This record gives sequence, structure tokens and C-alpha cells, in this order.
Amino acid sequence: MPRIIIDNLASKAIESEDKSKKLLQVLLEHTDWMHACGGKGRCTTCKVVAREGLQHFESITHIEQRLVNLNKLQRNERLACQVTISSDVVVAVANENKLPHLKYSD
Ligand code: FES
Repeated sequence: MPRIIIDNLASKAIESEDKSKKLLQVLLEHTDWMHACGGKGRCTTCKVVAREGLQHFESITHIEQRLVNLNKLQRNERLACQVTISSDVVVAVANENKLPHLKYSD
């Protein structure tokens, strides 16, 4: 089962039991994660910064490509609400999307 390490959240480790689940759904089962538009691919607040395993995310989606073209999403950033993962990844919460009640290490 793919393992998700959230690098700047005390290296919290999450095991994903279902590769077909969107990453946001898996994250929300284990921690709080910003998702202002409710998973519709419009806000980018759910994005993860991929620190390792970028190749284990599914191919970039049409919605993500549009945001990359608008310079609202970097190549190492993925929308958690739009993608699944096939193997282990290390991600971080983007600075602008940190929640005030959680303690981040960077
Ligand atoms: S929750 Fe808004 S883009 Fe993912």
C-alpha cells in the first residue's frame, strides 16, 4: 500500500489502503487539510508540494495543466483533490495553505 509522508507535519506517515482514492480523501481521513472549493479543482488550497516520488502521482490532469499554464501551480505541486498515487511519496503542505491550529516544522 502506498505510504504518504507529510514532511513538514512532523513527518506524519499515512498508509493509503486504496490506490483508487484521491489523495485528498486519504489525507482527510488522517489529518486536517485545506480544501476550500470542496475538491472541484478550482482553489489550489489542497495542493501538495511533492518532495519525493513525483513519478508516483497519476499523470497531470487537464485541470492541473490549466493551473500550471496560469502559473498558479508549479511542476512539483499537485492538486490532492484531483490525483491518486501508485506508490510512496513525501509531500509537504504549502506555506500559504497551512492551517493555524496545526504545528508545522518548516
Ligand atoms: S480542493 Fe480546491 S483545488 Fe482541490
